[in-house]
Amino acid sequence: MATNRTFTMIKPDAVKAGHTGAILAQINKAGFRIVALKKTKLSKETAGQFYAVHKERPFYGELVDFMSSGPIVAAILEKDNAVEDFRKLIGATNPAEAEAGTIRALYATSIGENAVHGADSDENAAIEGSFHFSAPEML
Ligand code: RTP
Ligand code: MG
Repeated sequence: MATNRTFTMIKPDAVKAGHTGAILAQINKAGFRIVALKKTKLSKETAGQFYAVHKERPFYGELVDFMSSGPIVAAILEKDNAVEDFRKLIGATNPAEAEAGTIRALYATSIGENAVHGADSDENAAIEGSFHFSAPEML
């Protein structure tokens, strides 16, 4: 069953470059309500756990190093059709292929350092949200 929530992280490249405020404003403007929000830093261990699904991929080590290289901003977002609509808002994984105006087209610098994460299913959105937030933090 489709739910109305998704999970995102603003990745270390975009936080470091000072794009957090602009990205959150674009997310709000697109009609998403912020259910939960925090700035935090992943350890290599927690970044590895979060992206464990990519363990066998050649870029896994690089991805874990990057995601633990600096602060991130994690959020749960709410909107009708949240997962699919948020993936449209962020654009393709590779910013060179991302549609103009999408968050990755605007702020990503490479396929690895691509500014934002977006959950890819309702099931993963719920798992990833619970990875970062406790129930009383989801308001
Ligand atoms: P995300 O999970 O972060 O929202 O990204 P995505 O669904 O668009 O892409 P996915 O295939 O899930 O890959 C996760 C992240 O791994 C890095 N990556 N690097 N060097 C590479 O070829 C490569 N491919 C993927 C990116 O940071 C990507 O977002
Ligand atoms: Mg993904």
